[in-house]
Amino acid sequence: MPYTEQQFNLPELAGLSAKQIEVHLKLYAGYVKNVNAVQAKIAEYMMDSTANALAIAELTRRFGFEFNGMRLHELYFEALGGNDEMAEGALTKALAAQYGSMENWLAEFKAMGVMRGIGWVLLTYDEKSRTFHNVWVSDHELGHLADTKIVIAMDVWEHAFMVDYMPAQRADYVTAFLANLKWDVITARFID
Ligand SMILES: [Fe+2]
Repeated sequence: MPYTEQQFNLPELAGLSAKQIEVHLKLYAGYVKNVNAVQAKIAEYMMDSTANALAIAELTRRFGFEFNGMRLHELYFEALGGNDEMAEGALTKALAAQYGSMENWLAEFKAMGVMRGIGWVLLTYDEKSRTFHNVWVSDHELGHLADTKIVIAMDVWEHAFMVDYMPAQRADYVTAFLANLKWDVITARFID
């Protein structure tokens, strides 16, 4: 089944311009298109898997990049449009319990957000050990923690902020992203 591009009705965001979001959503649409294209191509090459073994191997590896690029962007845009109120709730309580305080967790998450390189910073939750992890993911696919739930997905590819910020201002983008988070949405990801 082909994947469908999701629509996000984002309000005006403080620190992230409409142009920035528009450019970024176009890139997201490209991932959806490529997921479908790679899937279709693999199916076609599988008709003669021996003759096409090399192409299948390359496309199969490529699939993880495109699929995770699609899904991470959906998690990113779905969680934008809130305000800075980290409403006291199950998520903030659990984070404060593990990290000592919300400020401690935030400091670690922000520090990872300004690390050199392109990729994502994720807050994931390991239900088996009831532990949160701040995770660095290179590109879209390298470094994921298997079987953990993604609670926050923060894009730190330069395309996510370069309309509004210079590369050296990545910390300002990280602050803006966090200020626009919908805490009800991310808390629901943690609880469900
Ligand atoms: Fe992105």
